[in-house]
Amino acid sequence: MALLGIETSCDETAAAVISDQGEILSSIVRSQQQLHAPFLGVVPEVASRSHCTTMLPIIDAALKSAGIDYPQLSAVAVTTGPGLRGSLLVGLVTAKALAYGLQLPLIGVDHLEAHIAAAFLGEAEPRFPLLALVISGGHTMLCFLTRFGEMEIVGNTLDDAVGEAYDKVATFLDLGYPGGPIIDRLAEEYAGDLIELPIPMQRSGDLNFSFSGLKTAVVQFCRAYPKEVGEHKDKIAASFQRAAVTSLMQKLLRAGELYPQVQQIIVCGGVSCNRALRRALREQPVFRQRPLLLPEPQYCTDNAAMIAKLGHYYFKRENFTPLDVSPYTSASHSPVCHRRTDISPMA
Ligand code: KG4
Ligand code: ZN
Repeated sequence: MALLGIETSCDETAAAVISDQGEILSSIVRSQQQLHAPFLGVVPEVASRSHCTTMLPIIDAALKSAGIDYPQLSAVAVTTGPGLRGSLLVGLVTAKALAYGLQLPLIGVDHLEAHIAAAFLGEAEPRFPLLALVISGGHTMLCFLTRFGEMEIVGNTLDDAVGEAYDKVATFLDLGYPGGPIIDRLAEEYAGDLIELPIPMQRSGDLNFSFSGLKTAVVQFCRAYPKEVGEHKDKIAASFQRAAVTSLMQKLLRAGELYPQVQQIIVCGGVSCNRALRRALREQPVFRQRPLLLPEPQYCTDNAAMIAKLGHYYFKRENFTPLDVSPYTSASHSPVCHRRTDISPMA
């Protein structure tokens, strides 16, 4: 028996199969990046239409690659939110139809919590309470989890998500879309001196983030020194990245101090495949006391293996979802994310 995972929250159509023991049997991701690149961002209607045409072939391919046939499935897990409504609907309706037709339990999972579960696609087992820094195109959050299903948001971005800032800075510098991997590569190849850009929120005293001011600082620098934009995009990109990574590191270290009880620290989401960030995290001695877990790079960005893995944990608890479940677009409507009110992270 095996569990099928489906992910369509944004611009990746993905399906994966994991065994009853929680091992990945297959994971297929079809990115729509080429469709959206001319628009320098995801066009929701284009995304949902593309999911409609690729969803069933991707599921078929995932089952085939796992060597599993539909009657051998034990459950279907699917992202219910947050994400783009039209995109979410395609995956959710498909999962409901499969669950209904095959008489299987449906397991609706939260996309952000699934990014955290991606840290357990390898050997590691979850040890709660744990702290997770979820950094993606839409979110920059510090989360405290007492178990899967109980997730408190203890820090959040006040404006842009860090991945969004990467994408916007890359667009401004005319580097292409999505910007994260491009800036990552330029910064790796650049070895010269860097521009001093402000480190966001370093004296805020809380666990919140802000990346809009950093983005504006890049724009202002480029306006003041237009020659640099023509000749030294790599320098600007690397300087932006240093400030962004420093901010993420500072807040994560602060969160580790404020929540000494956590057993594991996880950094996940699309931006967690950034090489400079991964190096900074691995070189930080503090993370030797409480293990730091980073998903494998291919499971940092959107995929369905993380959906199936989280579905597997819910399956073991028989935590199933009714077939009339609706998708939600924002983390504030997530049934698992709560804003922490009882403990002040400022304490
Ligand atoms: O988790 P994800 O695939 O989708 C969302 O749930 O948003 O994250 C996508 C984001 C994009 O903003 C992309 O530019 C960023 O992750 N990203 C990166 C890297 N690879 C992807 N950012 C920095 N460095 C990377 N190597
Ligand atoms: Zn994501």
